[in-house]
Amino acid sequence: MGRREKSEKVSVLFVCLGNICRSPTAQGVFETLVKEAGLSHQIVIDSAGTGDWHIGKAPDQRARQAAQGKGVDISHLRARLVSPADFADFDYILAMDRSNLDALEEMRPDWYLGHLGLFLPFSRENRYEQIDEVPDPYYGGFDSFERVYELIDQAAEGLLEHIRHQHLRGQSQG
Ligand code: 4NP
Repeated sequence: MGRREKSEKVSVLFVCLGNICRSPTAQGVFETLVKEAGLSHQIVIDSAGTGDWHIGKAPDQRARQAAQGKGVDISHLRARLVSPADFADFDYILAMDRSNLDALEEMRPDWYLGHLGLFLPFSRENRYEQIDEVPDPYYGGFDSFERVYELIDQAAEGLLEHIRHQHLRGQSQG
C-alpha cells in the first residue's frame, strides 16, 4: 500500500491501546479462523498498541484465559507499539475503539491507500446491537473479557468474509 514493495498477500493489523487485551485477542481469533479456512499463506496478521506501557509483555492473563476457553492460544504474542512503518506494511489497519482510531488517524501518511477504520463494523450480527467499538476490558471483570471475545469473534468472521470477497475470490475454502 505504501512506498515499499508489497507482496500479493492481504495484510491486517489489529490495534488497541495496550496491545495486551483486545488486539492480541483479535490477532489470535483471526489467525485461527484464517488457518481453518486454509488461507494462512494468503493473509498476514499482526497486532499493536497505541500506548507504550506494556511493550514486550504477553497478553493479559484474563485475555489469555478467555481465548484459551475457546481453544485459541495467544500466550506467545508480545505487545508492541504501532509504528509509522505499519502504514507501508498493512492493507487493513483496524482499531478497536475511536480513541485508538483517532491516534492512528494522526499518524496516517497522506499516501496511505489502505483501509483504516474500526474493526467491529465488519461484524454482521453486531450491526443490530448498534455498537461499533470493542470496549476496553482492562478495568472490568472476567465477564468483560468474555464479552470482548464474543464481539471479536463475530467481527473476525465478517472480516474474513469481506477479505475473501474483495481479494481472494476463487481461492481455497480449506
Ligand atoms: P487493550 O486494554 O487496549 O485492549 O490492550 C488495555 C490494556 C492496558 C491498559 C488499558 C487498556 N492500561 O491502561 O494499561
